[in-house]
Amino acid sequence: MSTVKVYPNSDRLVEQAASSILEMGNQAISSRDVFSIALSGGSTPQPVYKRLTRAEGALDWRKVHVFWGDERCVPPDDDQSNFRAARETLLKHVPIPEDNIYRINGELPASEAAEDYQHRISIFFKNHPALPWRETRSGEIPVFDLILLGMGGDGHTASLFPGSFALQESLRWVVGVPHNQPPLPEVDRVTFTLPLINAAANVLFLVSGESKARMLKRVFMNDGEQMLPAQQVQPVSGDLVWMVDEPAASMLGENRPGRG
Ligand code: 6PG
Repeated sequence: MSTVKVYPNSDRLVEQAASSILEMGNQAISSRDVFSIALSGGSTPQPVYKRLTRAEGALDWRKVHVFWGDERCVPPDDDQSNFRAARETLLKHVPIPEDNIYRINGELPASEAAEDYQHRISIFFKNHPALPWRETRSGEIPVFDLILLGMGGDGHTASLFPGSFALQESLRWVVGVPHNQPPLPEVDRVTFTLPLINAAANVLFLVSGESKARMLKRVFMNDGEQMLPAQQVQPVSGDLVWMVDEPAASMLGENRPGRG
């Protein structure tokens, strides 16, 4: 199921996004004693991460296992690192055990880092037999409780860029994206692929700001043109929720979705 929630401003979007994440986390923990979440990079989710640190006692962080939907191939203390951004805004401020944090090894070559990460995801899900897997044409795929995503101005999401070979990947869950692939991300990247993203129980897009309005309209209008990466996020049976603010929704016109 796909839902679009529009909030009057970015503050309300942040509040509601944090509340939704806490709700999904508590649901997952009460049903399977584990909450598996893949964080997004970029700037939009950072105020949400900060808001989560103020929700004292609202989530049993000992049961939360944090992954990343993508990473840049840089060291963990590099300004471009998605791990570093989440550590500074969230992870060092909540009582989450170090072992529950699964950083993508950005120091490795992209394809090696991707293989390593896929292996570690597989081990994690096998070590928690209560966690679900989804049977697909390309075999069994682990089901994350929640995958957070942002959307770039070009319609990319995670590190799945328009025209990238990674969009055709049907078997691997994680791939390396060399920086010489068009369009040119500044550094090599590692990214979840569409099969892994679309296997998730919940996918939450966070989109804020006028700069995203034109692309959001293209993504929602979906007038038959070549599918943009963000349009290809269509969970097989999980829930997809777009949480956007008014400025980002400003070009959706009269047939805009409901207000959040
Ligand atoms: C990254 C993200 C990327 C991001 C979008 C939106 O590593 O940069 O995974 O997909 O979500 O580019 O970024 P903003 O939230 O900064 O607009």
